[in-house]
Parts: sequence; structure tokens; C-alpha cells
Amino acid sequence: MLNFAKQLALDAGKLLVQRLGSARISNKGDIDLVTEADIAAEKLIVDRIRSHYPRHAVLAEESGEAVSIEGGRTTFKWVVDPLDGTTNYAHGYPCFCVSIGLEQDGVLEIGVVYDPMRDELFAAERGQGATLNDRRIRVSEIDELNSAMLVTGFPYNVRERPDFAREFAIFTLNAQAVRRDGSAAIDLAYVACGRFDGFWEDGLNPWDMAAGILLIKEAGGTVSNFQNEPLSIYTKKVLATNGLIHEAMLKYLK
Ligand code: IPD
Ligand code: CA
Ligand code: CA
Repeated sequence: MLNFAKQLALDAGKLLVQRLGSARISNKGDIDLVTEADIAAEKLIVDRIRSHYPRHAVLAEESGEAVSIEGGRTTFKWVVDPLDGTTNYAHGYPCFCVSIGLEQDGVLEIGVVYDPMRDELFAAERGQGATLNDRRIRVSEIDELNSAMLVTGFPYNVRERPDFAREFAIFTLNAQAVRRDGSAAIDLAYVACGRFDGFWEDGLNPWDMAAGILLIKEAGGTVSNFQNEPLSIYTKKVLATNGLIHEAMLKYLK
């Protein structure tokens, strides 16, 4: 199933690149966009899962949750973001990806994040480690906030949250640098391979993080909510780090 997920992400990524610059864009909310490419990539992914694994459930951003077409008890659930970084994509900013996770009985088993602009395929299988283009990756060894490069994102309801920038300001003053790249799945994959040392966001959805969380765990990192409790993909507040700066970041989060 890992190879199936990898191929799916590669094919959906190719579709995104083909339509870059020409996909029609519409609004889901004030600042929340969806493009024809989100829809087409999701259809490609969901159709293929349904034909290969008709007993599996699918949770995908644009179409929501669908149970298995063959009915009965469903143990496997695919959690899919066909295009993570839609705002970037709509503006031609080349930072977006396909994110595909697979849960079995609520446990993440497979995670794949594909950035088609850099042709970077991040993949993980529970207990088997994480890779970038088939080479083993690990989180960084930065062990103090002062030397850490952090990344975050803002949810679409940011306009209703006047204090959203509190942590951004605190970490900007206490870390080496803070970035905001607009694709949570890429942010998490970059923590897994050591480009970033820590990521936090309040307001993520399961499809933004399913694959990325497994990548980080399998790359030796730590994930939790802002209270340092275990994370599920339905937790909104996510802290994901190389483990070494986890405590230091927790101190500033609430
Ligand atoms: C968004 C991106 C962004 C994050 C938002 C997500 P989308 O996903 O991952 O970085 O800050 O919370 O909703 O809408 O581009 O798939
Ligand atoms: Ca997303
Ligand atoms: Ca999306």
C-alpha cells in the first residue's frame, strides 16, 4: 500500500503542475480558496482508492468522509489533502503538495507528501522509518530555541482571532528564524528531514497533518498538542519538533 500511495501522490502532483496557472479559482470562505485542480486531483485520488480498495473509507478535504462502498466494518481510512497550499497554488507561488495518509483502526500506518515542483517525495510507514526520494531522513539536532528555524501557519478563520500573532511574535523574538510557507504538509515534511526544527499551528485539519505526523514520528521527532498530550489527527493544535526543542516551545504555547 505504500507503493500505491506513492504512485498516487506522484500522479496527482503531475496533474497539479499541468494545471498550474490555468485552473479556475473560487472561494469557499472570505480567504479560503478552492481551484479546479484541488477538485480534479481529489477525484483522481479518491477514484483510484475506491477501485483498488473498495472496502476502505476515505476522508478527503473537498468531498468529506465516505465509508467503504462494499459496506461492513472498515478498518482502513485514507486521509487525503489533494492540494495542500491552495492559496500558494492560486498565486503561482511554488510551494504546495499532495498529502496522503492511511490509518488502520485509528493508527497512522502510511504517510506520503509529494512536492511536484521540487520533485520531492516524502514517505513513511509505521515502524519502517521515513524517506525523501527513497533516502532515509531524520529530524535535526538543533537543541536550543535560539538556534532553531521554526515554521507555522495560520488557519482560514484568522480574521476572527485577533490574538493569532501572539506566538508568532514570541517565537520570532526567541528563535533564530520563523517562516510561514502556506503548506502545513510541507512544513511537517521539512521538520522530518531537518530543514525546520519545529512547527506549530492552531487550527489544522486531519488531512493537513495525517501524512506529516507519521513522517515526523518515523524520522525521530516528537508530536503533541499544546499541552504536551498525545496527538490525534483530529487535534487542532499541533506542535511538531525534532524532540530536542519540544519543551522549550511548549513553554510559549497555550
Ligand atoms: C492550508 C495550508 C496552510 C495552513 C492552513 C491549511 P490548504 O491548507 O496547509 O499552510 O496554515 O491551516 O488549511 O487549504 O492549502 O489545503
Ligand atoms: Ca490543507
Ligand atoms: Ca487542500
